[in-house]
Amino acid sequence: MSEVLIFGAGAIGALYGSRLAKAGASVSVVCRSNYSAVKKHGFTINSPDFGSDTWAPTRVFASAKEAIAAKIPWSYIVVTTKALPDVSDDSALLEGLVSSGTAIVLIQNGLGVEEPYRRRFPAAAVLSAVTVASAAQPTPGTIAHNRWTRINTGAYLPGLTPAAEEAHAATGQAREFSRLLVAGGVADASTYSHGKLQQVRWHKIAINASYNPSAVLANGATHREMVMDPAMAEHVKGVMEEVLTTAPKVLGAPFPAEFASADTIMRSTRKNISGGRPSMWADWESGRPMEVEVILGNPIRIAREHGLKMPRMQSLYALIKMAQANRDRAGKSDSRL
Ligand SMILES: NC(=O)c1ccc[n+]([C@@H]2O[C@H](COP(=O)([O-])OP(=O)(O)OC[C@H]3O[C@@H](n4cnc5c(N)ncnc54)[C@H](OP(=O)(O)O)[C@@H]3O)[C@@H](O)[C@H]2O)c1
Repeated sequence: MSEVLIFGAGAIGALYGSRLAKAGASVSVVCRSNYSAVKKHGFTINSPDFGSDTWAPTRVFASAKEAIAAKIPWSYIVVTTKALPDVSDDSALLEGLVSSGTAIVLIQNGLGVEEPYRRRFPAAAVLSAVTVASAAQPTPGTIAHNRWTRINTGAYLPGLTPAAEEAHAATGQAREFSRLLVAGGVADASTYSHGKLQQVRWHKIAINASYNPSAVLANGATHREMVMDPAMAEHVKGVMEEVLTTAPKVLGAPFPAEFASADTIMRSTRKNISGGRPSMWADWESGRPMEVEVILGNPIRIAREHGLKMPRMQSLYALIKMAQANRDRAGKSDSRL
């Protein structure tokens, strides 16, 4: 039986952990602020796809140190913390947990999230996963899953030929991970090559980097407001197109025809999303760090390494980074009053 450890069991970790458990894997979790609630009551997950259910993980750890002490040979360590390289290097917390057969699966938004894990654990398989989902944890241990979910997983194997990638053990581990998710009821879970997975990551940047910081900088604009207001829609589309034209130059291949254009993404936002706001707004409002580096900073830096400029992204990055620094400074001075 696969032993799976979810590291950072919040909305996404609990959602996918519960599905892997449904498929028959033994799934344990490392929690933080929700530790007491989850240890006592497990997770309650309400989902239009999977129904309402309570899930008790095999083991609930309060920290990585506790999980290390359990000495389990983990088949998969699934990292579902927010990706905040400017705040902490979470790969360091996995020291002592990764053994020879472990695959580290990163279900996180953004670009460049794999590199710290590849550098620290060169012998381990690193699997990169991108999900489209809408899940939140309104109270500790309660997960609200709002609509259908998709997850693509690929072995992170930069620079290999297709044949070498196919023969690599990590590719088999990625396929097995997707198979478990499908067996657990996630119909839209599939395995991609390294190259296609990076295309998916860039494509998702077009959505996240346009809507998320813009919602914050526009003081809580909803998705609908951003696509209905002419000036804002022009801005959002401009950011999307900057990402969608830069990515193929960086990756050396055009996007597959089935990937949505900026117009298609915005049309679908107009049709499908009512009053919701991007998740970065919730992080901003509650004073939590935002995933600014992996969503804006890393794409800009990666493009620059290829001699390419992303001026719209650069403006958003500068503004949101300074807004965050000022918010944090104001919060600290308030607390001294
Ligand atoms: N939610 C979605 O619908 C969605 C959709 C697509 C992609 N994503 C991406 O998925 C990733 C996870 O997002 P999420 O929404 O699941 O975030 P989340 O609900 O905030 O969950 C992250 C969890 O990790 C925990 N954590 C952080 N550092 C930890 C540590 N050192 N030790 C133990 N636990 C730790 C957090 O604990 P604390 O509560 O103590 O901070 C929190 O419970 C992000 O990259 C996000 O962008 C999310």
